[in-house]
Order: sequence, then C-alpha cells, then structure tokens
Amino acid sequence: MTQAQQSIQSLGACSSAGISAPVITIDGPSGTGKGTIAGLLATHLGWHLLDSGALYRTLALAARRQGVDLDDNAALGRLAAQVEVQLKGEQVQLDGEDVSPAIRTAEAGADASRVAVHPQVRAALLGWQRDAAVAPGLVADGRDMGSRVFPDAVLKLYLDASPEERAQRRYKQLKDKGMDANLRDLVQALRVRDERDQGRAESPLQVPDGGILVDSTSKSIDEVFAQVLDLARAALASTGV
Ligand code: C5P
Repeated sequence: MTQAQQSIQSLGACSSAGISAPVITIDGPSGTGKGTIAGLLATHLGWHLLDSGALYRTLALAARRQGVDLDDNAALGRLAAQVEVQLKGEQVQLDGEDVSPAIRTAEAGADASRVAVHPQVRAALLGWQRDAAVAPGLVADGRDMGSRVFPDAVLKLYLDASPEERAQRRYKQLKDKGMDANLRDLVQALRVRDERDQGRAESPLQVPDGGILVDSTSKSIDEVFAQVLDLARAALASTGV
C-alpha cells in the first residue's frame, strides 16, 4: 500500500528511520466512539490523525473488486503492497477514487475484519501506519495501535462500552448517514467482529501494556472527551512534549 501525497504526512518519513513524533493511541472495539474522540483530540492538539480501520476497509474493498479471496493471506499481502491509498481528512481514496461511502457500510466492516486476520496484510500495513507519525504528533485510532504499531506511544487509551450500547451507536451512525441498518443484525455482526478481532493470533484486540481503559458506556461524547483530554494533558506534561 503506497501513500503518495497523503495529506497527513510527508513522503520523506520512513518507518525504518524510527518514529519521530509523539503518538497517542486509541484502541478498542467498534461503536465505542473512538473515531470521534480521536478526531476531536487530533483537532484539539493540532496533530495528525490516523484512522487505521480505514486502511483495512479499503484493502477489503480492493480485494472484493479485484476478485481476491478474503481468506488468502499471500494474495492479500500482495494486493496490500500494490494499491495506493490516501487518507485526506474524512475522505479515503483508493487508487485516486473517493471510496469513503463504500468503505463505511456494515459489510465493509465485516470484510475488513476478515482481511485483518492475515499476517501478511498486517505486515504490509505496519510501515504505512508508522510513517504517519510525523510532527507535531499523531493520534492513531484502531485495534493494535498501542500494542503493536506504536508500543512507545506517550499515551495508550483503550475505549470500551457495553455491546448493547455499541450496537445502538452504530445503528444511529448508519441511519444518520442515510444507510440501511437493522439493529438485530448489527448486534450479531458486532459480536462476530469482536470475537474475530479479539481471537486472532496476529495483533489481537486487547488493552495494550501500559494502556488506560476508558469506559464510555452511558457517557456523552463530551464527557468522554473531557476525560481523554485530562489524560492526554497529564501524559504530555509528564513526558515533556
Ligand atoms: O475501526 P473500524 O471499524 O473501521 O475497523 C474495521 C476492522 O478493521 C476491525 O473490525 C478490525 O478487524 C480491523 N482493524 C484492525 N486493526 C486496526 C484497525 C482495524 O485489525 N488497527
């Protein structure tokens, strides 16, 4: 996966040279509000934002389009090395085409979690993600940001919420975007996705070492953000960033 002209980072940055900017990671299952919180935090700090889930979703879409088997580790690894993905704020481009709506469906989420189990896929995306850590800093949202991609992050958060509330939030999100959604199907899909993400051998979803658990059940986005901001300020002050 290449990232020519990616707006969130300079092309010169290279993972082999090490991570050159402070990183805050926000991991957790879907429907916890982590994408929203990550966006708010990045804006507040004036840092870059990495929505790593968008990479897995885009790769899955590319695989569907090219008829690549979603269970074929090697073929998906090769595909990941070929496609060009650009993250431009909310917009995601695949080989120059805006695929933002296409990757946000419930099906695309399920496909993403299928391709994400494969070691060659994860290996292909590792450098891409690390290259996003450029000055002044990066807020990275995903499943393995703190455990695998940025283990030395200045702050590692893990957002969680009850499965019922997460499904409700997902339902509202999809409806608000004018997409078709069925709550019962969403609960089932979330369960399958959680089990696959937590149970896979490669970079499973887990609270990272040194991570702080933030439970967003029954809390508004404003409440969760206030808590996250306090944690971020304390971490940045203590590390002198
Ligand atoms: O966060 P989002 O719902 O967009 O992620 C879609 C899927 O991509 C997740 O269910 C997970 O399987 C995969 N993913 C991952 N590692 C990440 C981000 C996403 O495995 N860092």
